[in-house]
Amino acid sequence: MKLTYSGPLRGEISVPGDKSISHRAVMFGALANGTTEITHFLQGADCLSTIDCFRRMGIDIENTPSRILIHGKGLRGLSAPSSALDVGNSGTTLRLISGILSGQDFKVLLDGDASIRRRPMKRIMTPLSMMGAKIGSLKGNGCAPLHIKGQTLHAIHYQSPVASAQVKSCVLLAGLYADGTTRVTEPALSRNHTELMLHFFGAQVHSEGTTASIQPSPALEGRFIQVPGDISSAAYFIAAALLIPGSEVLIRNVGVNPTRDGILRVCQAMGADITRLNERSDSGEPTADLLVRHSSLKGTVIEGDLIPTLIDELPVIAVMAALAKGTTVIRDAAELKVKESDRIQVMTENLTRMGARVEATEDGMIIHGGSSLQGAIIDSHQDHRVAMSFAVAALAAEGETEIRDAECVSISYPGFYQDLASLQS
Ligand code: S3P
Repeated sequence: MKLTYSGPLRGEISVPGDKSISHRAVMFGALANGTTEITHFLQGADCLSTIDCFRRMGIDIENTPSRILIHGKGLRGLSAPSSALDVGNSGTTLRLISGILSGQDFKVLLDGDASIRRRPMKRIMTPLSMMGAKIGSLKGNGCAPLHIKGQTLHAIHYQSPVASAQVKSCVLLAGLYADGTTRVTEPALSRNHTELMLHFFGAQVHSEGTTASIQPSPALEGRFIQVPGDISSAAYFIAAALLIPGSEVLIRNVGVNPTRDGILRVCQAMGADITRLNERSDSGEPTADLLVRHSSLKGTVIEGDLIPTLIDELPVIAVMAALAKGTTVIRDAAELKVKESDRIQVMTENLTRMGARVEATEDGMIIHGGSSLQGAIIDSHQDHRVAMSFAVAALAAEGETEIRDAECVSISYPGFYQDLASLQS
């Protein structure tokens, strides 16, 4: 994919449904009694992997362009798949489904692509084993393929060493099948879509500070879920509109849950002109339209409890920082190393190719902004968020940029390049 500057971005856009919420709607719908209807579902490869896994466990799922219908079979209604479940590139599918499978009465093998086979799974194997699950890594390296044999589970209070919604959700889902109240405390609050949606489906879930708890549920009830637009996908249009002079973009229907809206807080600290309009709630999730106008940005410090609220946006924030005045420091973000690629190394390497001054650190990056970017050949490392971040950088750079393996955006945003082009007329 080759991209060059082609004028300001102007117009309106509606981004695809939120990835985290789409996954959870399928999973909880499968475990509920009755039918769950989902609209604005993200038809990205990761969420299709989740659908595929549940179909393989006997759940009837109708996927049409306008809506998804999940014919749930209740908490005990899944059946053993005939062979390994394939989660593709999706860490959310693998980690959340492991919590569910730990409470079933059958054995499963879980596998995925080359990237998933490198990602750390001990973080879920440890708490699930404490609950009594039989879970192991086939190669003994703490990574997928994982084998799980469902058991009767014990409630625990897990002190998670990482602020990870996938770990928290995995333990809470296992908690649906446990013999008492299961609690998870994390070092900082991660996205709370599992807590909100399980509550919406009728589970007894409570949150207090950084602790979430769940009681074993007799049943979940099917619901109607309208998925808000994904703020992680909106982030690329926010960044592009802020960076390219003369731009003004209205992004409709964006999920602005406070556990996800860190990018908006960082943009504000950088001096961005963003207005939230039409604030409302969709299926229990806060939603708004965002009006974004070109702004001259300044560097900032991004650290601590803010990090989990913008973890997936840090690649595109790094692009904004490279073009902002002054220095931006990102710290407490070592989790970036274990995403679909090592995003500290991959962002540093590619931004440097475009002429930015970036230092990789153990837990983040130091980005000395202020100089212009030059077109370059970018290796996305097949990481969708890296590819989309450099599409933004390309439009704000001088000369032509070529993004390798650019089609990997289909993991979370199949129509990304077309949507970007639609604002360039
Ligand atoms: C997600 C949680 C985050 C995020 C990922 C989606 C989720 O991962 O990076 O894209 O849906 O729970 P971690 O839990 O590993 O931080």
